[in-house]
Amino acid sequence: MRNSPDQYDKLSKAFHWITAGIVVTAFVLGPGDFGRIVDGGVDPATRNDIVWHESLGIAVFVLTFLRLIWAAIRPGAPRHQMSVWMFGLSRLAHFALWALLLLLPISALLALGSESHPLTLLGGIRINLFPFIGNSYFSNLADWGEIHKLLGDVIIWLTGIHALAAIYHHIRLKDKVLVSMLP
Ligand code: HEM
Ligand code: HEM
Repeated sequence: MRNSPDQYDKLSKAFHWITAGIVVTAFVLGPGDFGRIVDGGVDPATRNDIVWHESLGIAVFVLTFLRLIWAAIRPGAPRHQMSVWMFGLSRLAHFALWALLLLLPISALLALGSESHPLTLLGGIRINLFPFIGNSYFSNLADWGEIHKLLGDVIIWLTGIHALAAIYHHIRLKDKVLVSMLP
């Protein structure tokens, strides 16, 4: 796959927009009051919002691994002309987004495992994580459910700033940053 200097390659664009769509959908479906519902005797597999949220979240996890491999071997990403501080900020924001895309699913798996709730996915898949995670060193380090919720809010705020920055580049700076990622 060739990479024109001004544009991300098609696969990078597909990864970017599919991931963005899934993250926003997973956020909207965020299973509120999850612990109380499940502790109250409701089977998470019977709740569409929980099953879809967990399935979409795991899809983001898998896509992010594949995307990172592709980012390491792809022909090259566009390099835009901008000031040093702006370049530094954009690197920092991208790094934070990559980290959140990995930390969100990891914190969710730690939350489910440490609270002995099963991972419930589309297709009737049900995985009990407690034996692997519940007894591990990490499970008692924090309230992973709260951390997961916080990270969910952070990624949405950061995405908003990231999108506004892209629009600012397009409208005010009139450069090719936004266009380089558009389909
Ligand atoms: C892109 C990834 C994800 C985003 C943006 C996201 C976002 C969120 C948000 C905002 C909440 C809080 C909802 C509220 O306060 O009412 C939440 C809760 C939850 N999410 Fe996710 N999530 C993601 C991935 C996952 C994955 C992969 C899983 C399962 C493996 C998962 C399982 C859960 C569970 C179990 C809760 C309830 C936590 C608790 O109350 O202890 N999430 N998520
Ligand atoms: C949850 C939503 C989003 C996430 C997690 C996200 C994440 C990322 C990441 C990790 C990159 C680096 C891509 C790479 O190297 O292949 C990137 C680039 C980019 N994103 Fe997003 N993004 C999201 C939404 C958006 C939205 C809504 C817009 C525009 C309105 C946008 C515009 C861009 C642009 C223009 C680039 C290229 C920037 C550059 O080369 O400096 N993104 N995004």
